[in-house]
Amino acid sequence: MLRSSDLFMTNPRHVTMTDTNSAPDYVKHQGLIKWVADIAAKTQPKDIVWCDGSQAEYDRLCADMVQAGTLIALNPAKRPNSFLARSAPDDVARVEDRTFICTDEAHEAGPTNNWIDPNEMRATLDGLFEGSMRGRTMYVIPFSMGPLGSPIAQIGVEISDSPYVVVNMRMMTRMGRAVYDVLGSDGQFVPCVHSVGAPLADGQADVAWPCNSTKYIVHFPKTREIWSYGSGYGGNALLGKKCFALRIASTMGRAEAKQGGQGWLAEHMLILGVQAPWGKKYHVAAAFPSACGKTNFAMLIPPDGLAQEGWKITTIGDDIAWIKPDAQGRLRAINPEAGYFGVAPGTNEKSNFNCMASLKENVIFTNVALTDDGDVWWEGMTKEPPTHCIDWRGNDWTPESASQGVKAAHPNARFTVSAVQNPVLDQAWDDPQGVQIDAFIFGGRRSSTVPLVTEARNWQEGVYMAATMGSETTAAAMGQQGVVRRDPFAMLPFCGYNMAEYFDHWLALGQRLAQSGAQLPKIFCVNWFRTDEQGRFVWPGFSENARVLKWMLARIEGKAGGQEHVLGVTPRFEDMDWQGLSFSVDMFETITAIDLQAWRDEFKLHDELFDKLAHGLPDHLVQIREQLQSRLSQTV
Ligand code: OXD
Ligand code: MN
Repeated sequence: MLRSSDLFMTNPRHVTMTDTNSAPDYVKHQGLIKWVADIAAKTQPKDIVWCDGSQAEYDRLCADMVQAGTLIALNPAKRPNSFLARSAPDDVARVEDRTFICTDEAHEAGPTNNWIDPNEMRATLDGLFEGSMRGRTMYVIPFSMGPLGSPIAQIGVEISDSPYVVVNMRMMTRMGRAVYDVLGSDGQFVPCVHSVGAPLADGQADVAWPCNSTKYIVHFPKTREIWSYGSGYGGNALLGKKCFALRIASTMGRAEAKQGGQGWLAEHMLILGVQAPWGKKYHVAAAFPSACGKTNFAMLIPPDGLAQEGWKITTIGDDIAWIKPDAQGRLRAINPEAGYFGVAPGTNEKSNFNCMASLKENVIFTNVALTDDGDVWWEGMTKEPPTHCIDWRGNDWTPESASQGVKAAHPNARFTVSAVQNPVLDQAWDDPQGVQIDAFIFGGRRSSTVPLVTEARNWQEGVYMAATMGSETTAAAMGQQGVVRRDPFAMLPFCGYNMAEYFDHWLALGQRLAQSGAQLPKIFCVNWFRTDEQGRFVWPGFSENARVLKWMLARIEGKAGGQEHVLGVTPRFEDMDWQGLSFSVDMFETITAIDLQAWRDEFKLHDELFDKLAHGLPDHLVQIREQLQSRLSQTV
C-alpha cells in the first residue's frame, strides 16, 4: 500500500492530493489516474491511499479502526482475527427511498425506481461532494466483480473515505493490485464514488461511525457511474454489490441485447450446486428478496436420509448471479462476489451449520451484540441468550431487555466473510466460465396464498410468475416491515432500468435461446413461509428445503409426478420424499392448497402491477395473464 504521505516522506517535492504522481507505478491507466485526481480535487481529502488488497494493508486498516473506535477486536481465543463494528443508529440498512436511477428520460428508469433528471442530480452531488472528504483519507479500491479475467466479469474502482468500506470490499470482491493488470492502460471500469459525508475541520475529533443524515445512492446508467453519499452501511456503501453488480450490471446486460448481442442477466440470486445420487451435478440459481434465507439455502445440508442417498449441496454464491449464454446457448452463471454479507440474526448451527462454520474466524460483524467474554451474539444464535451482553447500540443488555422489546443485535445485523471460509464452497465457484444453470427458483415470503412449490409449464409462464411475485418486507431495507409488496424477480430495489423492459429482456432472451435449439432451464416458484391459523410456520424449511430441490431435479429428469392446476404443476403428497420427517398430509395441504378466491384477489394485485408498468409491458406477458385468469375463472 502506498500512501501519498509516504511519498511525501521519501520525496522532498510536496505531493498534493491532485498530483497524479501519487498513483503507484503499476497503475498504468491514465484515465483512472485523472479521475482519481479530479475526485480528490473535488472532495479534498487529507491524503490518498491506493489500496493493493494485501493482507498487510487489511491488518493495518483494521488496527487503525480499532484505535479509532470504529472496530472492536473480538477475543482472539473465541473469534480469531475478527471485529465488531457498530453503525450509527440510523445507518443500519439500505435506503431505498434515497436510491436514484438517473436516466435521461424518466421512463427509462421506470415507475419502480426513483428518478431525478441527471443534470439536476449532478448539481446536487457537486454540492454534496465538494470538500466532503476534508480531514479524511481517500482510498482507491480496485476490484473485479467475478473471477479476474473471466469473460463474464467486470471491473470497478471505488473511491471511498471509509476504511470500513475498504476492508469489507476486500472480502466481498476480488480486490487489489492484480485488477490493474487486467485493466491495463485503457480497460473499462465502473467508477464508484463514495463518501460518508462527514468532513472533519482541523483538529476536530472523529466519531466511530461517521455518516450524514442526508443520503443519496445514485446511479447514472448511461455513463455507468455510481455516487453514494452519507451512509457507511452495506449495500449503500459497498458499491460493488447492489449498485454495480445489480443496478448498473442489469443495464449493461440489457444494453448488450439492444445492440444486437444475446445480452445477459444480472440477478438477485444465489447459485448452488446439487450432486444427485444418480451421478449428475446440477446448478440452480434462486431469487429471493433480501433477508429471506438465500444464504441458508445456498449452504444447505440435506437431511440425513437424503444425504445418505448421496444428495450434496455446494455454494457458488449467496446473493448475486451474472448469467450469460455460452456459444451453445446454455446459460452460464458466475458469482460476481467473493464473500458473504449475510444477515446474522436467526443464523445458528441448526438453521445454517456451514455458515456458522464459516464465521469461526476472520469475520467483520456489524451491529451484533458483544458478549462479556469478547465474542458475539445475536437473536436466534443460541437457544439461551447470554445473561448479559452489550447490545448493538453499545448499551447493557440482559434477557430482561428482551422482554421490553429491546434487541441485542439489530434485525439487519450482518457478518462479512470471505467465500473461501465456507466448508461447502463449490469447486467451480471461481471458474471464469461459470456453471451451467439447470433451474431457476423464485421465492417470496408469503404467509398465505402461494403454495410450497410450483413448476411453471414453460419459460413464459415462469417469467410471469417471477414478474408478479409478492413478498412481505423485511429489515434489510429501512421502512415498514411485514407488508406484502410486489417484488418482481426479487429485483424491485435492484433493477437499474424500467422493470417492464426487464421482463421483456427475460422473455426475449428465452425466445432467442429456444430458437437456437438450446434447452432452457426449468422455472419454479417456492414459498417456505406459509403459516397456519395460529400464524405459525408450517413448513420446517432450512435443511428440509432439500426435499423440494429433490422434487424439482427429479422433475427435470421426468422422474417425479405432480399435478397440474391453474398456475402450473405442484407435487402431490406422494411425489415428495418424506423419509425422516414427520409431516402429515394435512400439513402438506395447508402449505399447498390453492385458495381460488385468494388467487382471484392476488391476480388483482398483478393487474395493479401491470397497470403501473403499462409503458413498455410486453404483450406476451399480458396474454399470459389473460390465459391464467381465464383458467382461474373456469376453475370452480
Ligand atoms: C443484501 C440485501 O444485503 O439484499 O443482500 O439487502
Ligand atoms: Mn441481497
